[in-house]
Amino acid sequence: MTADTALAPLFTPVRLGALALSNRIVMSAMTRSRAGDGDVPTGLHSTYYSQRAAAGLIVTEGVQPSPDGKGYCRTPGIYSEAQIAGWRDVAESVHDAGGLIVMQLMHCGRVASRLNKADGSEVVAPSAIRGDAKIFTDSDGLVDLEIPRALSTEEVVAVIGEFRQAALNARAAGLDGVELHASSGYLPMQFLSSNTNRRDDRYGGGAENRVRFVIEVLQAMGDAIGFDRVGLRVCPGFDYNDIHDENPVETYGLLFEKASELSLAYLHLVRRSFPKIDNFAHAKAHWRGNLILNNELTGPTAAAAIADGQAEAVSFGRAFIANPDLVGRLREGVALAAYDQSRLYTPGPQGFIDYPAAT
Ligand SMILES: Cc1cc2nc3c(=O)[nH]c(=O)nc-3n(C[C@H](O)[C@H](O)[C@H](O)COP(=O)(O)O)c2cc1C
Repeated sequence: MTADTALAPLFTPVRLGALALSNRIVMSAMTRSRAGDGDVPTGLHSTYYSQRAAAGLIVTEGVQPSPDGKGYCRTPGIYSEAQIAGWRDVAESVHDAGGLIVMQLMHCGRVASRLNKADGSEVVAPSAIRGDAKIFTDSDGLVDLEIPRALSTEEVVAVIGEFRQAALNARAAGLDGVELHASSGYLPMQFLSSNTNRRDDRYGGGAENRVRFVIEVLQAMGDAIGFDRVGLRVCPGFDYNDIHDENPVETYGLLFEKASELSLAYLHLVRRSFPKIDNFAHAKAHWRGNLILNNELTGPTAAAAIADGQAEAVSFGRAFIANPDLVGRLREGVALAAYDQSRLYTPGPQGFIDYPAAT
């Protein structure tokens, strides 16, 4: 096992807004469904994330800003005192291990089952249109998505306030910033996309109105904790969870232009090319700011992306599951381990914190 000098670009420091990364390797957000009662992160989370603290930056799993934002089973929240306390332990463990950690805020909107949610919470969305997709529940297995209740204009403003409070809570817990999850068919993307947003108020209609929710959420979070601690994740063109936009070139061109004016810490792009949009080319044309590039990267392709100036940083998702020391393995040329697919979302430590380091 020898170090590959072609990978050297990955191991240089970089600053993304207020975030000073010691290397260019970011751990991408991954839902792992290990939260305890009350959707509180536990000691397992502290161990899991601190094991991976050699990453230049960790992005947590998707975290709901409110009970209504929860879609999947056993995902953690950041709205109760107990959740904030749990995340404080996580942030402290990661910082003690020398790492940086931002929280991904994920409001699932219509991609939800009430079977996964606390009593009294609701499935809400821009419009009352059911997604043609299924979701896993602990009690009933795979079930159809429900018809969501359309948010009123006042309620949209209130949801923006939930994101603001969640960003404040994340900072109060000691996390270094937040990332807005605006991909994969969840609430922010439901506002952006023409098949899920049929509103006739200022949050729906033309592209100018459909990007408003995401921009106002970013503004609210940036005003609260500093724009240099806020990131945005997108995958323009992705149809996961039955999401479709008639004209993603227009929608995301506008979104990138408006988001560029906010001086965010970074844009986190899941790079994909679709018939309607080559989303990397589009981001390069319209986004002005730091870029984290994701999706199916390997050490060599990631290093080439940095060396070629395609992005300031790169992120890995799946490779971090079974390789807590992914950074060390890439640095020293150690082979990567494969993860256990059957334990991605199961409760408990197995398949979560029991992958050994090799460096
Ligand atoms: C188990 C699992 C859970 C994921 N959960 C999330 C999530 O909560 N938020 C998100 O933005 N992406 C999520 N993703 C997508 C990853 O962040 C990443 O974009 C994807 O795995 C592609 O990167 P990779 O090829 O390096 O794995 C998840 C992926 C996996 C494998």
